[in-house]
Amino acid sequence: MIKSAFSKYLIISIILLAVIGCTEKKKRILNLPSTDMAEASLIPKPLKIIATNEAFGLDHTTSIYTSANDKNFEKVGLFLADKIKSKTNLRLAVNDPEVPEVNGVIYINQSDSDELTTAEAYQLYITKDSIILNAKTAEGAFRGIQTIRQLIPEISNDTITELPVWVVPTGKILDIPNFEFRGSMLDVARHFFSVEDVKKYIDLLSYYKINALHLHLTDDQGWRIEIKSWPKLTEIGGSTEVGGEAGGFFTQEDYKEIVAYAADRYMMIIPEVDMPGHTNAASVSYPILNGNGKTPKLYEGTHVGFSTFDARKDTVYSFIDDVVREISALSPSPYFHIGGDESHVTKKSDYIYFVNRVEKIVQKYGKQMIGWDEVAQADVSSSSIAQFWDSEENAQEAVKKGMKVIISPAKKAYLDMQYDTLSKHGLHWAAFIPVDTAYVWSPEKYAGIPKENILGVEAPLWSETISNLEELEYLAFPRVIGYSELSWSTQENRDWDNFKVRLGNQAPYLDRMNVKYYPSELIDWKESKFTYKEIKKD
Ligand code: ACM
Repeated sequence: MIKSAFSKYLIISIILLAVIGCTEKKKRILNLPSTDMAEASLIPKPLKIIATNEAFGLDHTTSIYTSANDKNFEKVGLFLADKIKSKTNLRLAVNDPEVPEVNGVIYINQSDSDELTTAEAYQLYITKDSIILNAKTAEGAFRGIQTIRQLIPEISNDTITELPVWVVPTGKILDIPNFEFRGSMLDVARHFFSVEDVKKYIDLLSYYKINALHLHLTDDQGWRIEIKSWPKLTEIGGSTEVGGEAGGFFTQEDYKEIVAYAADRYMMIIPEVDMPGHTNAASVSYPILNGNGKTPKLYEGTHVGFSTFDARKDTVYSFIDDVVREISALSPSPYFHIGGDESHVTKKSDYIYFVNRVEKIVQKYGKQMIGWDEVAQADVSSSSIAQFWDSEENAQEAVKKGMKVIISPAKKAYLDMQYDTLSKHGLHWAAFIPVDTAYVWSPEKYAGIPKENILGVEAPLWSETISNLEELEYLAFPRVIGYSELSWSTQENRDWDNFKVRLGNQAPYLDRMNVKYYPSELIDWKESKFTYKEIKKD
């Protein structure tokens, strides 16, 4: 048993000497973690790292303390303690004045340093005896603890010590996101995914500092959110999905649970109700909404562009008002996504009239409108946001209107595109997107959209070809990890050769989380070996 701070540092020094004394080859055999912070497999890559090449020994005598002036900092400390417990089986005290033996501290501190230029920025100072995380807000602290989690090796050094020590490299980090909006989208309409599935996706995304999950809640094949004033939307419209399976929907309580789970991870949930096209499920539930001149029938196929609301009927706008009102009341996000894509059977003049009217409804409920890039064709205000998925012309029109743009080009950022011709799931109408293609491009330079107009990057996952979590994970991972770096890290800090090594080193984390990622042959995946399981056996 390590009894004192002195003996603990002695042990760390021995470990350090062992690391320094080893050749690269021996290091791998002994599985000793590097103490060079600049070599740590951090994703997304922080803005600045200065390595000091020593080690902090995380063990059962480490204690976590947080700023007393903000309860949310304590919540972040408890979150970190919980994640350290699941990684290492160590139970670290948080703000406990009674701890008998403290030999190292993690201090999560509210700071007003001028270097912290955004709410999400953080500084990390790691020395031999402390880890100090500074942030202006608990949100920044939450981003910072993801970096601490990633700096803790999966494997402890328990060959030299009687009790395990996790060797954390020392140094300084200053980190500030490149884009304020870093998102993914999940289509729960073509196939429904459960609250538990969505929570797991949120957990994984938040580890990589992604802060927005856009839920595509409605489409031709299904309506997935309970609207109390229009109950048939889910009774009828929620009963089907692609391929004839049973469908499903979120009750308002379910939705609130997802929103709260995401909020605990400083992630917003953006609701999307796709209209005036992609509305077959709504029109089957309430045929009065339909505008394509045909009797709507439940649909389980994958074609697009055949449905539309009747853009000239006041009932349609009363309906939309109810839907936006009910969802906005559940949704703290400042955004409401109205879809607006592929309305191929809506007359152009009707489409423009529709988007103009719906934008006003969204604003009435205190939200900013987001729409797929087609909405830039309407007379939308500069406070609305265009999500660029397809048309450069529409994206340029959005810029002309002073709108912000979310960068999601299907050719580069669609998670449902197949990796290659052998991919088990996915489509390839836009492109095949192998793991390197997904990473090697610059959202800042895409299609000439000025950086000041870019709100951020989002990687959408459409679900025509996936119906369960395993299939979701196959398409999303590892590519979404690259999109986290494309949206958080600066262009100067992004480099494929460097990224692919860090990505390969995510395998032990992904395996521990039971993520069924696509093991691309472009990546040298690190073998997993868990100290935690070994401890549990004893
Ligand atoms: C889209 O992929 N239809 C936005």
